[in-house]
Amino acid sequence: MEALKGVKILDFTHVQSGPTCTQLLAWFGADVIKVERPGVGDATRKQLVDVPGADSLYFTMLNHNKRSIELNTKNETGKEILERLIKTCDVMVENFAPGALDRMGFGWERVQELNPRMIMASVKGFGPGPYEDCKVYENVAQCTGGSASTTGFLDGPPTVTGAQIGDSGTGLHLALGIVTALFQREQTGRGQKVLASMQDGVLNLCRVKLRDQQRLERGPLTEYSQHGQGIEFGDATPRAGNDSGGGQPGWILKCKGWETDPNAYVYFITQAAVWGNICDLIGQPDWKDDPAYAKPDARLDKIPQIFDRIEEWTKTKTKFEVMDACNPLDIPCGPILSMKELSQEQSLRETGTIVEVDHPERGPYLTVGCPVKLSDSPAEVKRSPLLGEHTAEILQEVLGYSGDDFDKVVASGAVGEIKTAGSD
Ligand code: COA
Repeated sequence: MEALKGVKILDFTHVQSGPTCTQLLAWFGADVIKVERPGVGDATRKQLVDVPGADSLYFTMLNHNKRSIELNTKNETGKEILERLIKTCDVMVENFAPGALDRMGFGWERVQELNPRMIMASVKGFGPGPYEDCKVYENVAQCTGGSASTTGFLDGPPTVTGAQIGDSGTGLHLALGIVTALFQREQTGRGQKVLASMQDGVLNLCRVKLRDQQRLERGPLTEYSQHGQGIEFGDATPRAGNDSGGGQPGWILKCKGWETDPNAYVYFITQAAVWGNICDLIGQPDWKDDPAYAKPDARLDKIPQIFDRIEEWTKTKTKFEVMDACNPLDIPCGPILSMKELSQEQSLRETGTIVEVDHPERGPYLTVGCPVKLSDSPAEVKRSPLLGEHTAEILQEVLGYSGDDFDKVVASGAVGEIKTAGSD
């Protein structure tokens, strides 16, 4: 049984943030109906194309388990169909630029009028305030949410991260808001508006950096390696390189082969509880009792030097040998795994985290499956829909169009060319 079975999602999302959210809901069993502009569809279908003529990986990897209806929501018949969809669905999810839904004639008041039980969930770049009307993409959110200013090295520029915390991160936040609103609707019978702003989402993920901002007002951040290097702190949380964000110092260290392999590195954490094991492992047993090294506080002004010494040891081993040596001693560490290594990792295939999916236009490709595993609601990853693949199916089975009514809708041009549905 799928956890969200019976929940109908009107999916007005595009690009990455919104589609991440609705894909998760689809994996949990919701019926996600993706509304796309006839003949055009989600812009990502044709972005970063690697197989000419086929939907891009950008699109396919963010739109699994959904159905696609082509619908021009600015055409009169299209608006009627959209109204019927709003009356039928439980949740409407959108991440249009601010104002687009109002211009289309489907703002919150109208949606509520049509269906008071509707949960209307939006991703926007910013919450209410000076920037609420701005369009936003991933890196803008990383920069305005506190991530870029705290990422990178002290002597370098602000840096964006590979993890799509602005888009996919906000999609995750929105999904939580939606299921929470669905839960509340059980008690109240009413829908509500759910807003996840990308700036808020990134800032939420940068919570520890706001912690450090406030600590900085009381003195230097002694666990930052900058402190050990004798570099003064400014008035804002600095970029911390590869320092750990918590109380257990960590750093990325070179391993055997680093000269030629950009990923021959390991993240090594000098957890206080296993300090003695670390000293033995690297051949520095005297540090266990030396008052300059024995206690965590004593080590704080020497963090970079300590990692230099540990690196002398890690450079003699591959990243996997470091892992093998540290794990039995309970020393937390992690090899830097490349995307190539992750894509080939058998254990991730076995858990369904990396999945091979077949697609009629592009053949087999790899994707990331559902990252949250529910024991009673396992997620089966199904390929993304072709543009308008389910238009007829949705008009007929979900909205009940038939005979002349169906033909009129098709003739109106509101739904594009009808394709055969369910070609899976
Ligand atoms: N039928 C008819 N028109 C449609 C349609 C449909 N099925 N679907 C979309 N449209 C229209 C919209 O109504 C809008 O028209 P309008 O501007 O004339 O009112 C237009 O298509 C474009 O929508 P918009 O959202 O402005 O797209 P964009 O490509 O210009 O901007 C973003 C893209 C991502 C920058 C913008 O949508 C945005 O800032 N979204 C919120 C934040 C966000 O999610 N960002 C991250 C994306 S990963």
